[in-house]
Amino acid sequence: MQPFTNFVRAALAVATFAATASVHAQAWPTKPITWIVPFAAGGPTDALARNIAERVSREVGQSIVIDNSPGAGGTVGTAKAARAQADGYTMLVGHMGYMGAAPALYKKLPYDPVKDFAPVFRFPDTPMVLMVRKDHPAKDVKALVEYGKQNPGKLFISNAGMGSTSHLIAAMFASAAGIKVSLVPYKGAGPALIDVIGGQVDGMFDQTNTALPQITEAKVRPLAVTSATRVGQLKDVPTLAETVAPGFEAATWYGIYAPKGTPQPVIDKVQAAYLKVMKDKAFTDRLSAQAIQMLPADKYTASALGKHTESEVARWKVLAAKANISLD
Ligand code: MLT
Repeated sequence: MQPFTNFVRAALAVATFAATASVHAQAWPTKPITWIVPFAAGGPTDALARNIAERVSREVGQSIVIDNSPGAGGTVGTAKAARAQADGYTMLVGHMGYMGAAPALYKKLPYDPVKDFAPVFRFPDTPMVLMVRKDHPAKDVKALVEYGKQNPGKLFISNAGMGSTSHLIAAMFASAAGIKVSLVPYKGAGPALIDVIGGQVDGMFDQTNTALPQITEAKVRPLAVTSATRVGQLKDVPTLAETVAPGFEAATWYGIYAPKGTPQPVIDKVQAAYLKVMKDKAFTDRLSAQAIQMLPADKYTASALGKHTESEVARWKVLAAKANISLD
């Protein structure tokens, strides 16, 4: 009789746990939610995440608190998110660097972008702008490349940490232009840009949403954009592709990820809230005014982000090798 009783007890325990988890998931959210941004406050990832969190929080009826957890190009905060409780109250603001390129760069990455996370939704993309300090002698990107050739290793380019998009795009640019630059890591693109403005470094690649205000106020000089076509808000700034790096095209992609095991009803609720927000033209027009690139609606979904993450992990293995990008 004993084995049967044990079996019944175990089955009841599993059923009770499943029922409790389902009740929590249906009731979610009953307290504030945390989104981990693995960079210092003030950078483009932080800024875009706060824009979107504010609108999604209105839809789900709970505040979304941004937890800036910087370090190692975003991988420190991402590892923290991977270890978080899978209850829907902690999610990661992921992007192309630490959720796409990192497996190709870090030999001992403390998480797997695909196995340790469940995709929730994808943000719109952000092209990047190559900017130099306003007193730099290079007046255009061709002059900057010439400067780099004449002064190998003496062109100091700041970034948000090794493996960040500001690092990756700078390394790909240097490789395409055939110049040797010195890459200077910070805890985020926010602090990195402050030192371009202050003249402590020569330049950086930053996303348009945080670069445009500094360009408008003439605190930095824009030399080129990374998108395939020119950015509406910077009509006089050429693309890298039309100047020094034919075929060059890059934009930072982002997405919200939950720790693996997060209940599907929670993921569905957040995804539905976001897809509704992205139908609000007044909101998406405000993002477009920052040169953020809207995507077709079917690219924003959890399944689309999951497929994109897998293809990006594979793509960066080839790209990193081709551009000779490594962290060692
Ligand atoms: C990056 O350069 O990877 C990030 O965009 C940095 C940031 O958002 O602070």
